[in-house]
Amino acid sequence: MQFPDYIKHERLKQWVSEMVDLCKPDKVRFCDGSQEEYDQLCEEMVEAGTFIRLNPEKRPNSFLARSDPSDVARVEDRTYICSISKNDAGPTNNWMAPKEMKEIMAGLFDGCMRGRTLYVIPFSMGPLGSPIAQIGIEISDSAYVVVNMKLMTRMGKSVYDVLGEDGEYVPCAHTVGAPLEPGQKDVPWPCNPTTKYIVHYPEERAIWSYGSGYGGNALLGKKCLALRIASVMARQEGWLAEHMLILGVKEPSGRKSYVAAAFPSACGKTNFAMLVPPKIFQDEGWEVTTVGDDIAWIKPGPDGRLYAINPESGYFGVAPGTSNETNLSAMQSCAKDTIFTNVGLTDDGDVWWEGMTKEKPAHAIDWKGNDWTPESTTPVAHPNARFTAPAINNPVLDPAWDDPAGVPIQAFIFGGRRSNTVPLVYQAFNWNYGVYLAATMGSETTAAAFGQQGVVRRDPFAMLPFAGYHMGDYFNHWLQFGREIYNPPRIFSVNWFRKDENGKFAWPGFGENMRVLKWIVQRSHGEAVSVESPIGWIPNYENLDWRGLDFSRDQFDKVMNMNLSDWQQEVLLHEELFIKLYDRLPKEMINMRELILSSLWRTPTNWGPTHE
Ligand code: GTP
Ligand code: SPV
Ligand code: MN
Repeated sequence: MQFPDYIKHERLKQWVSEMVDLCKPDKVRFCDGSQEEYDQLCEEMVEAGTFIRLNPEKRPNSFLARSDPSDVARVEDRTYICSISKNDAGPTNNWMAPKEMKEIMAGLFDGCMRGRTLYVIPFSMGPLGSPIAQIGIEISDSAYVVVNMKLMTRMGKSVYDVLGEDGEYVPCAHTVGAPLEPGQKDVPWPCNPTTKYIVHYPEERAIWSYGSGYGGNALLGKKCLALRIASVMARQEGWLAEHMLILGVKEPSGRKSYVAAAFPSACGKTNFAMLVPPKIFQDEGWEVTTVGDDIAWIKPGPDGRLYAINPESGYFGVAPGTSNETNLSAMQSCAKDTIFTNVGLTDDGDVWWEGMTKEKPAHAIDWKGNDWTPESTTPVAHPNARFTAPAINNPVLDPAWDDPAGVPIQAFIFGGRRSNTVPLVYQAFNWNYGVYLAATMGSETTAAAFGQQGVVRRDPFAMLPFAGYHMGDYFNHWLQFGREIYNPPRIFSVNWFRKDENGKFAWPGFGENMRVLKWIVQRSHGEAVSVESPIGWIPNYENLDWRGLDFSRDQFDKVMNMNLSDWQQEVLLHEELFIKLYDRLPKEMINMRELILSSLWRTPTNWGPTHE
């Protein structure tokens, strides 16, 4: 095998040679991460019908891809944590013995790239050479993966300099699982419609993905490396790998704080990370800036605070619902240099999706390639349609977004999608209590993963699909931070998704979330006023800043209200999770549950801030 002379790492060369022998591609291409390479691959995909070049006047340097209709989201039931011991993966992960899985993978990967090119993709999660960063090498037979990785990671040949002759890297093997017979014509989106495996070997720190070309299944730096494998590294090495956005808040006084927030997939991270404050706040000097919108790697600093980096360099954001009104900065981020997947195509060569503008186009081509009009009964964009945009396009990118040292975290926020029960905001009484509220978080399922939608499931720390080890050990790892850190961030719960009796959102959300964020930041500095409720500290109506918004005390009651029987039901669901995890569940969790139950009994009826 011929290697470029800038690769000096024998172990890596050995691995690539083995993968080439196994996958039997027609060609091998070492990606250098250059703009020329990116442009050339995009052009090739246009010729192959994988990409449609968008109108350069409307959407410069941007493309649309339509996936196979069967390949539109993460496949959680096909995702495996193959630790040596089954119990190390825990009851919330699919598991198979590594030996058994390797036999299956060896069979599937044998000849899987026939007729295709094997791309070798070097990437760094985190700023190149940062002490928090990790290097991965993905081999893939998908040019779509290469160009997405270029936007989402620091991808390119300088990664080999950091790696040197013997550096550590995570090997990531990916194939769409659709070998071509001689003379067989390729399809625009090859994938394997029946067989998919997303496999992690945590002890070896290796990833094998078969059969899908989409998002988290195929861009292996993202959920596979930066969460599932990194969470295992983090536990061993004393740091945290979390499904969290990171944002900066600057107050009129000039004080700058950073918060990190964990919401499950399609529950508002990108939107919150790019929050545009209401006009009155802006005029006063409030600023919100983005560090990251999906993943945070967090390490204790020498001063006893926690420092976070965003390991990514782009956004793989949900398109539907994104508009100038809801998320102006996301709209600006994807105004150019963007890859769209599964959105609608307008007659003038631009993109459109549900909620993008009030006025619908009179005609468009939907994500499946069919004619679409406003009368159509099916959506123009798939609900999990995405844009891949470079972070540098974001007009509110935080100046420290790629600081290798990270930013100090002042508060953690946890939030699910709950039509009822969970109030707009509350603050945990202390660190352990915060771990409890994060551990027991529930959320209604969304289109970001394959499966039934809108059912409440426990999604601890928004990490249910992403923790690479036993969830009970994960809770204990978080508790350990509270034991060791002198001044830990304060912990909050939010719910932007409460609905009223007509099924409409009872909270305006988006930019108006600034009002809650202000209270959170000031609480985290020990400033804003709160009252005690059975489940945590909550604001009174008077304690939130309502200037510029017509939101009555009654409406506030509706989003804050806690109903005793709902909460009794909720706590029963906590128990269900605890029973599942019992063998490794920290006993603090059970004690905390007792405390909450007894304080709930203190309040025989509805409990809200103005009902005291
Ligand atoms: P992933 O990329 O899957 O991890 O999703 P995410 O957590 O970044 O979610 P995102 O910000 O893309 O939002 C997902 C959906 O929730 C979109 O349809 C948004 O319009 C909607 N959404 C976000 N914030 C709010 C909010 O404050 N209120 C309401 N009602 N909807 C929101
Ligand atoms: C998520 O599902 O949380 C995402 C999209 O951010 S994916 O990259 O597919 O995981
Ligand atoms: Mn996500």
